[in-house]
Amino acid sequence: ELAAMPQRIIDKIELAPNIVEFIVYAPMIAKTARAGQFVRVLAWPDGELIPLTLADWDEQAGTICIVVQGMGTTSMKINQMQVGEAFAGIAGPLGQSSALHRYDAARQTVVFTAGGLGLPPVYPIAREHLRLGNHVTLIAGFRSADLLFWIGEHERIGKLKAEFGDRLDVIYTSNDGSFGLKGFVTTPLETMLKDGKQSQGREIVEIVTIGPPLMMRAVSDLTRPYGVHTVASLNSIMVDATGMCGACMVPVNIDGKMVRKHACVDGPEIDAHLIDWDKFLPRFNLFKPQELASRTRHGF
Ligand code: FES
Repeated sequence: ELAAMPQRIIDKIELAPNIVEFIVYAPMIAKTARAGQFVRVLAWPDGELIPLTLADWDEQAGTICIVVQGMGTTSMKINQMQVGEAFAGIAGPLGQSSALHRYDAARQTVVFTAGGLGLPPVYPIAREHLRLGNHVTLIAGFRSADLLFWIGEHERIGKLKAEFGDRLDVIYTSNDGSFGLKGFVTTPLETMLKDGKQSQGREIVEIVTIGPPLMMRAVSDLTRPYGVHTVASLNSIMVDATGMCGACMVPVNIDGKMVRKHACVDGPEIDAHLIDWDKFLPRFNLFKPQELASRTRHGF
């Protein structure tokens, strides 16, 4: 009976400090969602609209999964919501779904670099590639071992590994070396690129990067000289998420000309090598003073 009300929280799992997974009843979205898309969440009637990538969905149960990291007032308040409470509104699925190509799994691999909260949006895209028959190399980076999630045997990445076996290689990194390789997602990626653009003998045909903006830029800078097609899924600041307000503008260089793309309707995936990162990155800090003031006001 919990499921009777749209946008109601069916389950809540604290994944790591400040990181919460919500399973929400949203049957229309669960029915039409495709890998790479996102939703626009209005948590309460006079609240702020925030974009969240669809981390998973279950058409039969009519539920979607979103993962929220408490960063600003809204996300911190969302993380305090409980099972049984409902969001005021969830619009979606929004944005373009991932462009998926079929490769030769014996000789080629698609590499994902997921930094921290990049793992939830990476998950359905990697799963889609695996379902298509591709080989996937997942490099998942965490700041430290206490922030790990979804990697246990009975959790999402563990289950993918069990289902797809040899077609999925997973490499973990942590900044402090407390889990997996010490370093960043770029550490093993750089080795692979230097080592002939391959991983375990498979040619790297595509790289998908999702995570903190600075990490995505680092990946893009690293892969550019090697000419490996690299896609970044952008967690831009968004307001309407329908291409009208311009908040999510991404400056993109096409044939030497600056073109404005909008992460909400043209993305969220954008060719990372075309993004003018120098102009794009400062946009993430546009509202820092207001965010800070709001957090202070709300006691977070
Ligand atoms: Fe307004 Fe994309 S969020 S144009």
